[in-house]
Amino acid sequence: MLENVLKVSNLKVAYGGIKAVKGIDLEVNKGELITLIGANGAGKTTTLKAITSTLPSCKVEGEIHYLGKSIKGINSFQLVNSHLAMVPEGRGVFTRMTIQENLMMGAYTRNDKAGINADIEKWFTVFPRLKERAAQLAGTLSGGEQQMLAMARALMSHPNLLLLDEPSMGLSPIMVEKIFEVVRNVSAQGVTILLVEQNAKLALQAAHRGYVMDSGSITMSGDAKEMLHDPKVQAAYLGE
Ligand SMILES: Nc1ncnc2c1ncn2[C@@H]1O[C@H](COP(=O)(O)OP(=O)(O)OP(=O)(O)O)[C@@H](O)[C@H]1O
Ligand SMILES: [Mg+2]
Repeated sequence: MLENVLKVSNLKVAYGGIKAVKGIDLEVNKGELITLIGANGAGKTTTLKAITSTLPSCKVEGEIHYLGKSIKGINSFQLVNSHLAMVPEGRGVFTRMTIQENLMMGAYTRNDKAGINADIEKWFTVFPRLKERAAQLAGTLSGGEQQMLAMARALMSHPNLLLLDEPSMGLSPIMVEKIFEVVRNVSAQGVTILLVEQNAKLALQAAHRGYVMDSGSITMSGDAKEMLHDPKVQAAYLGE
């Protein structure tokens, strides 16, 4: 039986008169890596912010269920306590803290010291670059390394769902490949992930299922590998 982690139904978001999300449906089941792809301004970030109730004051309609309960309007404390983690666009690591300290901050709601240390070691094996630099200040890391740290920090909270907003944004092609490799590895550890991406090809290659968003609507969805071979997806998003 598929265990539903996130179910978004008929979600609509408007910024004043601008309809950014126009009634979308989206589901993420336990253990899945789901990608939401689409061009600039499609409404992807707005969707993630609606899920986490981190939008500026604006109109949100529809239903958002997480682990079977409505989380519409959830506050930040409830969000942390429900183990729903988001790594926003632009990442936001604590630049004046070391990598090790950033990871400890990610676990601030936990008090199992042995478990926290074990987790740090576990994620260091998935993010070996961070291990090499554990004592380095986060602000001195490269963009890609900061992205990895932001992900590792989010994982320290034991998320039931990890929301990633364009982790490959602004990175060199080699670092983009590395980030996707890490996302796959994190998924292989059993973490449920909703990945927002503009890099449709790599996202669909990594994901189990995909959704295409265009001008506030979901225009296509399905098995990620089938979508990779869909001529419409290829023409519009894969440059083929
Ligand atoms: N705070 C805001 N106030 C007004 N309009 C906004 C606001 N935030 C986003 N929008 C508009 O909503 C639409 C969707 O934006 P959103 O950031 O969700 O797109 P996106 O799919 O994440 O794009 P990108 O890939 O460029 O990050 C855009 O037209 C954008 O200009
Ligand atoms: Mg965005």
